[in-house]
Amino acid sequence: MPAVRAEKLYKVFGRRADRAVELLADGRHRDEIADLNVTAAVIDVSFEVSPGEIFVVMGLSGSGKSTLIRMLNGLLEPTSGTVEVAGTDITRLSAAELRRVRSEKISMVFQHFALFPHRTVLDNAAYGLEVRGIAREERVRKARESLELVGLAGWEERLPTQLSGGMQQRVGLARALAADTDIILMDEAFSALDPLIRRDMQTQLLELQASLGKTIIFITHDLNEAMRLGDRICVLRDGRVAQIGTAQEILDSPNSDYVARFVEDVDRTRVLTAGSVMAPPTAVDSGQDPREALRAMREAGTDRAFVLDPQRRLLGVVNADALDRADDAEGLGSVLDTGVHRVGPATAVADLFHRAAGTPHPIAVVDGSDRLLGAVARDTLLAALAPPGHDAGEKDTATAVAAGVAVDGGEAR
Ligand SMILES: Nc1ncnc2c1ncn2[C@@H]1O[C@H](COP(=O)(O)OP(=O)(O)OP(=O)(O)O)[C@@H](O)[C@H]1O
Ligand SMILES: [Mg+2]
Repeated sequence: MPAVRAEKLYKVFGRRADRAVELLADGRHRDEIADLNVTAAVIDVSFEVSPGEIFVVMGLSGSGKSTLIRMLNGLLEPTSGTVEVAGTDITRLSAAELRRVRSEKISMVFQHFALFPHRTVLDNAAYGLEVRGIAREERVRKARESLELVGLAGWEERLPTQLSGGMQQRVGLARALAADTDIILMDEAFSALDPLIRRDMQTQLLELQASLGKTIIFITHDLNEAMRLGDRICVLRDGRVAQIGTAQEILDSPNSDYVARFVEDVDRTRVLTAGSVMAPPTAVDSGQDPREALRAMREAGTDRAFVLDPQRRLLGVVNADALDRADDAEGLGSVLDTGVHRVGPATAVADLFHRAAGTPHPIAVVDGSDRLLGAVARDTLLAALAPPGHDAGEKDTATAVAAGVAVDGGEAR
């Protein structure tokens, strides 16, 4: 079941909204219905967001992003269409039921932090739980935990004004995490931050998401941010969906001139992340004997495999040659190569090249607890960077271009 599903959603402001929906459903552009004196903010928007996905809604100012997100948590009633949250159509709920969905299922992080200036950082983080009537002790415990998750342990008793903008936004994020809802909506949450702090926050969000598995709907007008964060990106144009796809799909196959122009200057090595290009890894269990491991690898058609402990934590790599020579009695430990590069899912592809160059092994993508999420092999890395339309014959050029970009990126850091 999708975490959130929008089906033919419309939001038109103005008295003749219903007539406007009819005309818009017929394919009219919103500028063509100017005589109705309405503002068509969201037009025929449909999508599904899977549990644990980061779904980014991107578009220029006025494209309808905030209006859309406000319909997803019931703050705005759609003119037409439905919104389902975990299978419940929230457009049919009573006000009281809706409030419950909002406090238990969905939290929201705003651009301008929306903190209470006279409450401590701790009480701000605990706010969502307070609204829900959770006892103080439990509230404080959860708020402390989430402040620690966002790196604000030790700041609990300060007031928001004593914190920098980046730290204030961390409090906003901690509040959403403390509320412990499965879904977090973020409307331009990082847009007010300086570029470097903004990057840090993006990294932190990706890392938190990899370990907590929240469903996140993130709004931004910044394409680089969208590509870096989104498992999938929904590009809005004048209230309508222009395209929905992964960063890679949108880069490789923009479905219109509009989207193509949008993405033409994107630096792939910066926006694509280890998490977005990784493949499912071949992995064997540390308890297997060499012969079993070898068989599993042959079946998977690979000569290398990651070795994991029972908690899926990464121990190292084995290769087929070494396994062939290994003594069954000694187990995998005797041929384990621990020299494998580990990166977090948020690592930019630009930062993978120098690692890939120094080793025959794929790069391991791991979460904060060193659990294996995926693998990035060298050919995956190059394929991810090849511009669309490159076939095998053109690979050498693509490789050279990619390598050049990587060297530049590496030196710049
Ligand atoms: N309450 C309202 N009444 C009338 N028009 C509205 C209302 N809210 C939004 N609009 C209009 O709907 C359109 C979409 O606005 P929205 O705020 O959703 O855009 P946005 O993509 O979030 O833009 P930004 O990037 O500037 O935040 C705009 O033309 C806006 O003026
Ligand atoms: Mg907005």
